[in-house]
Amino acid sequence: MPMYSEKVMDHFMNPRNVGEIKDADGIGEVGNPVCGDMMTFYIKVKDNRLEDVKFQTFGCGAAVAVSSITSEMAKGKTLEEAVKITPSLVAQELEGLPKNKYHCSNLGAQALQKAIGDYAQKKGIKIEGLEEKGEEHEEGEEG
Ligand code: FES
Repeated sequence: MPMYSEKVMDHFMNPRNVGEIKDADGIGEVGNPVCGDMMTFYIKVKDNRLEDVKFQTFGCGAAVAVSSITSEMAKGKTLEEAVKITPSLVAQELEGLPKNKYHCSNLGAQALQKAIGDYAQKKGIKIEGLEEKGEEHEEGEEG
């Protein structure tokens, strides 16, 4: 059996929404303590919705696939909906990740949440369901 699902390979080979949003409304940067990889998410918000989401990553193939799918999942969602995107949902959407790659799935959701947190802080608003900054998800956490 191949190590990665077709969906992971697809998003790794053709990642969606790569890049930087110059005038982003929120930016979230996280590093993975397990491997030292980095990821940055940029969001553009309009009428409480994520109008645009982009990312840059210095990470492994799984991290690229994770950020790509996270950006797709987040686009068009309201802020309240987007903060509900968890690492395990991301892994599910990718049709699974190898167990030793679970930690990679943390990066996407965490960076997105941080970007939303950054936006909320700048605007002085509270977003229901938004986690405290910097909170870690356990490796292999269940959804
Ligand atoms: Fe670092 Fe995957 S090995 S994010």
